[in-house]
Amino acid sequence: MVQIAPSILSADFTRLGDEIRAAERGGAGLIHVDVMDGHFVPNITIGPMVVKAARRATALPLDCHLMITDPDRYIEDFSRAGASMISVHVEAVAHLHRTVTLIKEHGCKAGVAINPATPLADVEEILPFVDYCLVMSVNPGFGGQSFISTALDKISRLRDMIDIRALNVQIEVDGGIDSDNIAAVVRSGARWIVAGTAVFGQGHAEEATRALREAAMVPLTV
Ligand code: DX5
Ligand code: ZN
Repeated sequence: MVQIAPSILSADFTRLGDEIRAAERGGAGLIHVDVMDGHFVPNITIGPMVVKAARRATALPLDCHLMITDPDRYIEDFSRAGASMISVHVEAVAHLHRTVTLIKEHGCKAGVAINPATPLADVEEILPFVDYCLVMSVNPGFGGQSFISTALDKISRLRDMIDIRALNVQIEVDGGIDSDNIAAVVRSGARWIVAGTAVFGQGHAEEATRALREAAMVPLTV
């Protein structure tokens, strides 16, 4: 089943609770939280305090995407703040299996995120241990960037890798997704679709989330 995961990075922070509730009314399945440290990526965004505030606004799973160096130091803080899912970047972590285990020990679903230029081989060995793989379709750091179309082929190859081994791993995709390209993203095999600008950019998060859900409804063959 396809789930839309609105990224609050593009929300109006003066009205964060209202924005999250609007996305929820529009049919969001997850709320995506982009955490950036100014070190792994060139931008600084939000931390556990905002996750805690978001937790009070919704019962939807909070999907925390950690674009940070040394995420092990903060996993406990994010889980205590109310994270339901935590993804870390394969490029940022030295001992990925240890980090994934730590995330699960804190009661969260564990994900591994992979940048556009990183080969799928880098996540191959960790797949049996994660709940989801987050394929980046932009270089992480900012909302509002253009979708890198080679992500589609990467998602299909990841889909095959997962299906051939009969693994229970979801594919999430993040960056530059809108009503025009979401159907192709779903067709390639992704099931959790992150969207920031397309949901919050026009100030009508409920309608925008609904429109994305409708555009994502394509016959699923995988
Ligand atoms: C990029 C973030 C994305 C981003 C999505 O570093 O991980 O989640 O905010 O925003 P849009 O949909 O605007 O590309
Ligand atoms: Zn993200």
